[in-house]
Amino acid sequence: MSPPTVVTLSSSPAPLPPVSTVILGTGSYAPAGLLTNSELSKRVDTSDEWIVTRTGIRERRIAGPEEATSDMAAKAALAALADAKLTPADIDLLIVATITPDLPMPATACIVQAKLGLPTTAACFDLNAACSGFIYGLDTASAMIASGRYRHALVIGAEKLSAIVDWKDRTTCVLFGDGAGAVVVGGSSRPGLGLVGTRLGAIGESVDLLCIPGGGSSAPATPASIAAGDHTIKMKGKEVFKLAVRAMEEAARDILEQHGLHADQIACVIPHQANLRIIEAIAQYLELPLERFFINVDRYGNTSAASIPIALDEARRAGRIKPGDLTLLVAFGAGLTYGSALIRW
Ligand code: UT7
Repeated sequence: MSPPTVVTLSSSPAPLPPVSTVILGTGSYAPAGLLTNSELSKRVDTSDEWIVTRTGIRERRIAGPEEATSDMAAKAALAALADAKLTPADIDLLIVATITPDLPMPATACIVQAKLGLPTTAACFDLNAACSGFIYGLDTASAMIASGRYRHALVIGAEKLSAIVDWKDRTTCVLFGDGAGAVVVGGSSRPGLGLVGTRLGAIGESVDLLCIPGGGSSAPATPASIAAGDHTIKMKGKEVFKLAVRAMEEAARDILEQHGLHADQIACVIPHQANLRIIEAIAQYLELPLERFFINVDRYGNTSAASIPIALDEARRAGRIKPGDLTLLVAFGAGLTYGSALIRW
């Protein structure tokens, strides 16, 4: 009997994990509907003067009745893919950061996957960290790409906040708007590029300062809860304001310290666009001129998870981000979550 021959199965070696994770493209989408302060002041007891002075907001975009969060998300994603010169077939990870999913179940990411025609082998999930959702999503995608098990991720922040706002409550309805922003994240063999670091956190004991009290498992919707408006945003604005300034300043300082950087080395800060006065306070505490911040809250209001990726896309297209620049993203939102991220371009 002849001895057995050893058969070697030929297999290609597993690809090495990338050295860094980079943003390959950005895109954004704003719905056509425009709601100005003067139009709003015909609906509730407010004025253009009050809204501009207290928030810096002049107008916001409102999605049409047939336009869902997933529609806006898909449009922003297509723009980011075109910018990255990639196609849906290249994507193996999709994260949608949102507090306004199309449906309570399933994830809006799966609806966006189908709309974009992503491969069925792509991992798709939603992430709820409210206004900090995009930074949380970017960190998650970056870690998954860095593992070497995913190649190209789409991270989308998309919101239809007009669907969860109480249009009779002047203390909140003047603040929010709809829209979507997206980035494509991939690996790079060049060290020191892309996502340099992140600092995430949450202050869960303050959940009730900003929440939607009804419609979840702790308080399922009833005719009475719906009549009481429990499925709309409730916010203790003053308390949230103070915590927002403190947490965003700390998140910015911490990440700069971690990386041995001074605020002055940041070419452009992309803050969450909730209120111009919050952005001004952070600029003052970080001792940075306001011109160093990218601001579009006047045109969109607060679009929660969509706010930073829309601003990032607009900042890039406006020439505010150049190769070699350091950009700081910083956010705060319901949860209360907060986060910062440093990106080298
Ligand atoms: O994205 C998540 C994070 N969210 C935020 O960061 C939002 C943080 N909070 C804020 O931006 C601000 O607190 C608000 C813009 C929400 C409110 O500004 P404020 O300077 O803190 O005003 P306030 O709540 O202290 O209200 C001052 C006055 C009150 O009247 P009285 O009690 O002084 O007579 C309000 O009733 O302004 C009144 N007011 C309004 N008046 C006209 C509240 N909303 C309005 C309005 N129009 N829309």
